[in-house]
Amino acid sequence: MSPDATPRCRYEQPPGARRVFMEQGGPLLVEGPVEVVLEDGSTVVSERFMVALCTCGRTATQPWCDTSHRRRVSEPAPERGSGSSRQRPQE
Ligand code: FES
Repeated sequence: MSPDATPRCRYEQPPGARRVFMEQGGPLLVEGPVEVVLEDGSTVVSERFMVALCTCGRTATQPWCDTSHRRRVSEPAPERGSGSSRQRPQE
């Protein structure tokens, strides 16, 4: 068996590889600095050591995460007359 055929440890980072961390329901964390190419072909750069890229679409600072993913989406108000409200009977 050649050394190339040896499976890599799952957590081993190959030399020169950029490491990306995935958070369910949150941003994609990328070791920086990074240059991101946007849909229109323009680029944005971050020099930070760790960059959070929005995957939820709620950020106001695309493509960067602004933690909007943490906000709960409010439940819709129950419909009137659904029988589940606790209103006093009218006199
Ligand atoms: S992932 Fe954080 S705002 Fe979208």
